[in-house]
Amino acid sequence: MDQEHEKSIRNFCIIAHIDHGKSTLADRFLELTGTVEKRHMRAQTLDRMDLERERGITIKMQPVRMTWKPNHAKFLIPNTQFLNKLQKLEIRNFKLEIQDSEYILNLIDTPGHVDFSYEVSRALAAVEGAILLVDATQGVQAQTVAHLAIAQELGKTILPVINKIDVPHARIEETEAEIKAFLGLAKGGEAPIMQVSAKTGEGVEALLEEVIKRVPAPSLTPPDNGVDGAKINTRALIFDSHFHPHSGVIAHVRVMDGAIKKGDYTTLAAEGISFVVKEVGIFAPDLKPCDRLSAGDIGYVATGIREAGKIHVGDTIGNKPLPGYKEPKPMIWLSLFPVSQEDFPLLRDALAKLRLNDSAVSFNEEQNEVLGKGFRCGFLGLLHSEIVIERLRREFHCELVVSLPSLAYEITRKDGTVAHIADTARFPDAHALVRVREPWLSGQIFIPDRFFTALSSLLTKRKGEMGNVETLASRLRVTFYLPLRVFVDGFFDDLKRISEGYASLFYDVASYRDAVLRRIDVVVAEERAAGLSRVVASDEVVRVARNMVERLRELLPRAQFAIKIQAVSDGRIIASATVPALRKHVTGNLYGGDRSRKMKLWKKQKEGKKRLGATGRVAIPPEVFIKMAQ
Ligand code: GTP
Repeated sequence: MDQEHEKSIRNFCIIAHIDHGKSTLADRFLELTGTVEKRHMRAQTLDRMDLERERGITIKMQPVRMTWKPNHAKFLIPNTQFLNKLQKLEIRNFKLEIQDSEYILNLIDTPGHVDFSYEVSRALAAVEGAILLVDATQGVQAQTVAHLAIAQELGKTILPVINKIDVPHARIEETEAEIKAFLGLAKGGEAPIMQVSAKTGEGVEALLEEVIKRVPAPSLTPPDNGVDGAKINTRALIFDSHFHPHSGVIAHVRVMDGAIKKGDYTTLAAEGISFVVKEVGIFAPDLKPCDRLSAGDIGYVATGIREAGKIHVGDTIGNKPLPGYKEPKPMIWLSLFPVSQEDFPLLRDALAKLRLNDSAVSFNEEQNEVLGKGFRCGFLGLLHSEIVIERLRREFHCELVVSLPSLAYEITRKDGTVAHIADTARFPDAHALVRVREPWLSGQIFIPDRFFTALSSLLTKRKGEMGNVETLASRLRVTFYLPLRVFVDGFFDDLKRISEGYASLFYDVASYRDAVLRRIDVVVAEERAAGLSRVVASDEVVRVARNMVERLRELLPRAQFAIKIQAVSDGRIIASATVPALRKHVTGNLYGGDRSRKMKLWKKQKEGKKRLGATGRVAIPPEVFIKMAQ
């Protein structure tokens, strides 16, 4: 093993709350190290998906390898003032140590939004240290704390850094105090909190030097078979992957032990599949082939494997598995159906390929009486589901019908059986149930103290609970509990509204609690519209049912016949509306007074309407499902 090589590597990521400047800081690193040519630089270079650039948010972690020689020249010539000082202190024997090595810096930029925290935890597992970036105009926010907790749990070295110091109203001192108080850092004489402007570049070079000083080099794993000649097993953690049309699955890896090169015959430890390595390389940030990846390196391995479902993030390349990752727990479910059933195989293939690149999505085949074959998909949140659906459309050209989001309820039936029901349409009628429990979130809200009363009434109104309240400077950290159902139903938007956009939060599903819930079905032209069913609190049935019927009445395109819409719960019609028939002027082009001919046509039209109304299905266009889900 090349120990010198390992010593010169620093693997680190940047973690922060959304918009605190991670990708902009990464830009400055790319510039400083000359990794990306100036003419190819653009703002947030590492946000490589169009979707990321359009929305201005990072969705995917993005690794990049940089090489850099710190500029120590400024320490080389001690000036007279310095020498005089040493003399005064009676220090005569001193040695100037100059390090002239080049470092390999593997940086992973991560997303900030709570829905993409799984990306952050996987990125952290591949590195030794993390820059925890805090925006000086915003201070410590919810995801600052959430991501820090993941990094601390994994035992990573953390460098807290204050960003945006160029902004005139930056609260640098307050932010520093918050970092110390909230995060319990800098206790016991830890290194100082650095200050940078990712925009102007101020402090960025010093930060990179600090990364080299404080982030440990990858540690050597002692040879594990320990006998003579101690052969080291190659082990590389797959922290991400993607599908390449020519090279098959490309695994993004952190090599822990040994080395991998083109032509190696190796194995996926958990899956037990063997393959010959087609290529290895680094992220520059585009894929750039290299001779080999050694212990400590971050890079990619082209596997040649074409079945997307065979490679799982968290698996190990090599025959001894590394600990891997915890499976993410989906928060919400949506059903996705291809608009045309012929495209079902296309959707299956697309989901398998997308999952390589977003391992937080889970999916199972399902059959729906109206929409046909599709997939029930689990997501980490609403934004996550929105991004996945958009990626399926853009990257895989899937035309989809999407159901309303649903959660997993725990139900106890009259016969004593207990089940978790994530498909709303299968939620039993009240008479068949003895008990229902629903998922509750527990989390923390960070909010300026002037909004405390508004927060308190919002939580009461939306049937949540308030726990501990901690004060820091002008901000509060409020522990809260809320049914996940309420959260999905626009709680975050309400929170943003009452706090003028200043509140942030993070959460986890903490428990299941008893609930009184009812299913509402939507019946269109006498047929249940699968995918539009909802489960709501029993005291909300009437309000929600009316809203759903009204919204659908506005959205459904008019047909040749009147369309009856009803909302039904426990066998009772709660609300109804009718979409009036289009009046087609069948006699419009008949001039004069040929009354008998007109009568004949009217009669024909009436019969046609009757027939369609009685037996015809109303094809609900996909965009109606999508709009109803919003
Ligand atoms: P997500 O990945 O979506 O969480 O965002 P991010 O943390 O990567 O933030 P990003 O780099 O996209 O920056 C968010 C905004 O802050 C952009 O408009 C940047 O131009 C701006 N910004 C970042 N750093 C600085 C800074 O040091 N000073 C100023 N004035 N603006 C900055």
